[in-house]
Amino acid sequence: MKKKVLAYNRVEKPVLDQLEKEFDVRFFKNVDVENDSDFLQWLGETEGIIGLALPVTKELLDRAPNLKIVSNVSVGYDNLDLPELTKRNIAATNTPDILTDTVADTVFGLILSAARRIPELDHKVKSGNWTEPLGPDHYGIDVHHKTLGIIGMGKIGAAIAQRAHFGFDMEILYHSRRSKPEAEKRFDASYRELDQLLGESDFVCLITPLTPETEGMIGKREFRLMKDSAIFINGSRGKTIVESDLIEALEKGEIAGCGLDVFEKEPMDLHNPLLSMENAVTTPHIGSSTWETELAMSELAAKNLRAGLSGEKPPTMINPEVWDKRR
Ligand code: GLV
Ligand code: GLV
Repeated sequence: MKKKVLAYNRVEKPVLDQLEKEFDVRFFKNVDVENDSDFLQWLGETEGIIGLALPVTKELLDRAPNLKIVSNVSVGYDNLDLPELTKRNIAATNTPDILTDTVADTVFGLILSAARRIPELDHKVKSGNWTEPLGPDHYGIDVHHKTLGIIGMGKIGAAIAQRAHFGFDMEILYHSRRSKPEAEKRFDASYRELDQLLGESDFVCLITPLTPETEGMIGKREFRLMKDSAIFINGSRGKTIVESDLIEALEKGEIAGCGLDVFEKEPMDLHNPLLSMENAVTTPHIGSSTWETELAMSELAAKNLRAGLSGEKPPTMINPEVWDKRR
């Protein structure tokens, strides 16, 4: 009998088609995971979960007694109760590395868009409001030769620094849990305490994972420490900042603008003030969303799933101790 697999929200079609040949797969999208009876019944029988951002809580695990692996189609795994998975010997996997350059491109797109007001001016052109001569109300600010502060110098942070240093002659400051001598050497990056980084950067880029330690790490106080000409970019998770404090900082002119790919609530509520702010550039959490990268992520997630269900070690485990214990 084929093993039962639950696919959730995002597995690219060619990969899903292949998985359906190997497993008994059911695909669910945005269901009410606490109450949807179809979902809960399948969860009760399933041995593997593959997909995007299913909240895997203790309560959910209580209803999934046969589960052996949760394979995230994402690098972030703040949707998982990792200690609980590990306690139950359930493997958890993510899709690191293959999305690094794609996410760094997205972040750079937000930097350029916010600095040069590209979405706002695009709208102006298309709505028939391009009038000559152009004046200061069209001006942006330079990106090249400015100072970029990166909070979270992991792999994606380093890929952003690479673009900034080699492509835009920017000065790189960074803040991370650990110092990163490699980044210091390759990009002339300098370590700063958070407060110093915030005060010295023209662009502040947040790219740290969401953890209990980073939740809400950028709020009222931190926005006040930034230059009033600063542009703030969030490519991590909505909850690493206090969104209402960001909105207040934009309203009061404590910072000049922002570029956001992630939000406290996704999709955003239609009454979110960010929706009517021209100096807030927004994208709907598309950091890794290119054809090439999404397909590669789904493929890696499928590889992890297959391994986990056949007793081999999944290539990119988040909790390798589960594997070590099993052997
Ligand atoms: C996207 O946000 C990811 O974690 O891969
Ligand atoms: C990476 O993001 C780190 O904080 O070391």
